[in-house]
Amino acid sequence: MQIQQFRYSADNLGYLVFSENTGIAIDAGAVANMTDFAQKKNITIAYITNTHLHHDHISGNDRLLEKTGAVFLDCRDFADNQKIQVGREALKVLTTPGHTRESVCFAADDFLVTGDTLFNGTVGNCFSGDLEAFYHSLKKLTALDGNTKIFSGHDYVAESLEIAEAIDPDNQDIQQYRKKYDPDLVVSTLKEELLVNPFLRFNVQAMIKKLQQRNFPCHTEKQRFISLMEAF
Ligand SMILES: [Fe+2]
Repeated sequence: MQIQQFRYSADNLGYLVFSENTGIAIDAGAVANMTDFAQKKNITIAYITNTHLHHDHISGNDRLLEKTGAVFLDCRDFADNQKIQVGREALKVLTTPGHTRESVCFAADDFLVTGDTLFNGTVGNCFSGDLEAFYHSLKKLTALDGNTKIFSGHDYVAESLEIAEAIDPDNQDIQQYRKKYDPDLVVSTLKEELLVNPFLRFNVQAMIKKLQQRNFPCHTEKQRFISLMEAF
């Protein structure tokens, strides 16, 4: 399975995931760039879907549907672990409520499209209000192979690293991560996220200490995640 990233609006990132000559558009705000790319590569966009239903992620749906005649897959209808056949390969849906109730991620063998659930350097806002669900969703993602590439819904890297540094000034890995940043291809690995993304570091002693100093509950892993989200 292959993936092409498309930047649109101020910092949105959309994707065409494809296998051989069949593709699925995910958060297709960059309609013209996506159709140009598909045409050049002789890819038929068979499906259009979204990571969640926030306006900036669905803004291209109608125009792309008109241009391609693809089948629209409503993310609210997905079941956890559902497979979407793309060419000869399958893309797996992971339901990941938290940022919003209907948020989903899409997993291929070596990459993950995460929308606003997990960013490169931070996690999404918990607009659903359900931090417990968000915790379980992130646990689902962090259980994947460390080399999994993370393709998220926005380029928030610069701001996220500033916040990560403010929270965890002694973390040397943040500098390394910053050096690798490329605005033309915004991507990190899950392993890198676990080293720098403060909201995934709920089992790291330095982070637990910070929470204890501020009297946030931190006995269980879930408590520590919720405390991190509330503290920072
Ligand atoms: Fe969003």
